[in-house]
Amino acid sequence: MERIENGIKETVIHAIFHLYGEQVSADLLLVQKTRREFSGDFTLIVFPLLKISRKSAEETADAIGHYCVSNNSYLKSYNAIKGFLNISVSQEYWFNFLFSELQREDYGTLPVSANSPKVMIEFSSPNTNKPLHLGHIRNNLLGFSISRITEACGNRVRKVNLVNDRGIHICKSMIAWKLFGNGETPGQSNMKGDHLVGKYYVEYEKVYRRQVSELIEKGADPEQAAEQAPILLQAREMLRKWEADDPETRELWERMNHWVYEGFNVTYKRLGVDFDKIYYESETYKLGKELVLKGLREGILVQKEDGSVWADLCNDGLDTKLLLRSDGTSVYMTQDVGTAHQRYAEFEFDQHIYVVGNEQNYHFQVLKLVLKKLGFDWADRLYHLSYGMVELPEGKMKSREGTVVDADDLLDEMEKTARQMSEELGKLEEYGEEQKEVIYRQIGLGALKYYILKVDPKKNMTFNPNESIDFNGNTGPFIQYSYARIQSVLRKASETGDRNIIMNLNDKEVYLIRMIYEFPEIISESASTLNPSLIANFLFDLSREFNQFYHDFSILSAESHELVVLRTHLAKAVGNVLKSGMGLLGIEVPERM
Ligand code: ARG
Repeated sequence: MERIENGIKETVIHAIFHLYGEQVSADLLLVQKTRREFSGDFTLIVFPLLKISRKSAEETADAIGHYCVSNNSYLKSYNAIKGFLNISVSQEYWFNFLFSELQREDYGTLPVSANSPKVMIEFSSPNTNKPLHLGHIRNNLLGFSISRITEACGNRVRKVNLVNDRGIHICKSMIAWKLFGNGETPGQSNMKGDHLVGKYYVEYEKVYRRQVSELIEKGADPEQAAEQAPILLQAREMLRKWEADDPETRELWERMNHWVYEGFNVTYKRLGVDFDKIYYESETYKLGKELVLKGLREGILVQKEDGSVWADLCNDGLDTKLLLRSDGTSVYMTQDVGTAHQRYAEFEFDQHIYVVGNEQNYHFQVLKLVLKKLGFDWADRLYHLSYGMVELPEGKMKSREGTVVDADDLLDEMEKTARQMSEELGKLEEYGEEQKEVIYRQIGLGALKYYILKVDPKKNMTFNPNESIDFNGNTGPFIQYSYARIQSVLRKASETGDRNIIMNLNDKEVYLIRMIYEFPEIISESASTLNPSLIANFLFDLSREFNQFYHDFSILSAESHELVVLRTHLAKAVGNVLKSGMGLLGIEVPERM
């Protein structure tokens, strides 16, 4: 069934032809939701049409309104205020829409075809020297949700991850393991591989700090000491050996990175995120180097006396940016140049979104400019989705190292809290142990995901675990519970009967139908602004509105058979939207709770 805005536009086109003898195109017509203070559902802005009508705004609006109401039975009444034509939609339209489009489980999403635009979305992108932390959780949740939302708008999406698997950071863990590890493996220590490697990174830091203070005590200048701590020199030596393909170093590197990947995979799986392809810095940094050297030969980049290569971005309001060190080794930027190039060659994206924290705003500004300078027009298709920091409230859950909050610890904690709160409320008593465990996991994860995604990505935020599981607030569990309750009503509904008569809807029913009617616009706005919080908050409003309705009106024991049929269809439609909306946030909804 057609969306009524389109129906209005078609009728207006006929009206204009009939009244003024001119054929206008639909692009000229602006139809918006009517503002709260006026009566009506949709408003046509008449001003652009005055040069055709050659009448006053009021007269034009009145004539078009009259034509619409007389010629389209879905349009019930109108009022014209200056150049604004406010049109009311008939109950019949809402009724028919409820029984057709709104019963579809995929309502609001567009199909993807072989010709759909291609969007590449990079998220997660960890370094391999330590486990994932709270910041990565926000990153993963945003990236995954944006991928689903983008896909729901009819794009071919490719989810990718960039693993920064080489460089000084991993060499630090490697040297500490070599010096102090006694051959320790994850299996032996019964530790996740990423945590084991992280443990040696922390060990490195400890030794490094001790060595620096020792040097200072012996009279060294602090700046020099920071550069000359023996363990740092050993880590650098390791990096040189790695770049020179030293077999022993490469073997250790492969082994430790492999441990890390096994650990990451467990966390990704728990979080419910996945990727279509993983790119590794070790496989793209050489391409980056080649592209930079080519740019140098072509005179696009400049070389300093010490041999280092730079991009001069002064004319773009930035400074000069290092692309290759004097010893020829590459930097973070070099690798991104190579990675982007390879991705375009493989996927020819129409858009490439990088989900990366806002501390790298400058990095991505430079990346785009450098690629552009190197002659790649597709650099215009790169977009940095820059998000703010996330912290825990003071005093909550110190991590093992006492600095950042570990992702696995937080996931454990969420499940535990979900269990505690559900037990206290006695919500799941009639279920078996296994079933309970599944639901606890869904609640804990749903709470975490929703709490993080309901915030505008640009904003910094504090994540409060207890608040996130509150069954009554603006939380994931509240929406999950609303969904489960609808399913419980639908299970009891024996009357699945079809609609039989067009009947009067009460104001609340119309209000709810109109609310879900808008779901497609909410999705497309959250896609175009890359902001899942619009969907999250919409789902909260909808749940609240439906719960109020359920409180005020009977569904299964409504006065007449027709009314039972109407309201169960309404409940089903709300349930569909809650489920698919939560799906766009990467959140599962339990059928029972
Ligand atoms: N691994 C980097 C870090 O942890 C983030 C990588 C972001 N993505 C990129 N294409 N540069 O800071």
